Amino acid sequence: MRRPLLVLAAVVLGATAVSAQNVTIIKERQDHLKKMGDAVKPVGAMFKGEADFDLAKVQAALKVIQANAPQLPPLFPDDSKTGGDTEALPKIWENKADFEGRFQKLADAAKAAESTITDEESFPDAWKTVVGNCGGCHKQYRKPKS
Ligand code: HEC
Repeated sequence: MRRPLLVLAAVVLGATAVSAQNVTIIKERQDHLKKMGDAVKPVGAMFKGEADFDLAKVQAALKVIQANAPQLPPLFPDDSKTGGDTEALPKIWENKADFEGRFQKLADAAKAAESTITDEESFPDAWKTVVGNCGGCHKQYRKPKS
């Protein structure tokens, strides 16, 4: 006669675990995103003509993107929809395949740009393609800045 009670207890505990907010993983994904943001910033200044072109810095940023983008998809589990100071929109979990595919696309674009960007002439167009992936995803899946 005890078994139904145990099963009920397991169900209740399970439900509690799922609704708990995973703030650790939210912080972790924000750290990966911030690393990409920090790498992209100085190159953005070159793109705008506010800093001198520096191929080594561009290539370094492309490496940082390739290292971080593929790590991001698993950092958006179901228990991390809210919590901390997350700017992630609920739409992410309604379009998971599209969302995750965008990180892959970003990594692929950064890889391709490594060989495309060889000098100041080849830089702007290829760079625009890479960072277009950042803005494209933010527009859909990140809370707009208020
Ligand atoms: C597939 C979607 C996607 C792509 C691609 C993407 N981001 Fe984001 N980004 C997000 C989401 C979602 C957040 C909000 C995460 C959160 O707060 O939980 C975010 C947040 C950030 C943040 C703020 C992190 C913090 O400290 O809170 C920075 C910086 C950032 N992204 C930079 C970039 C850059 C640079 C690129 C391109 C090289 C990029 N992102 C590509 C989805 C994306």
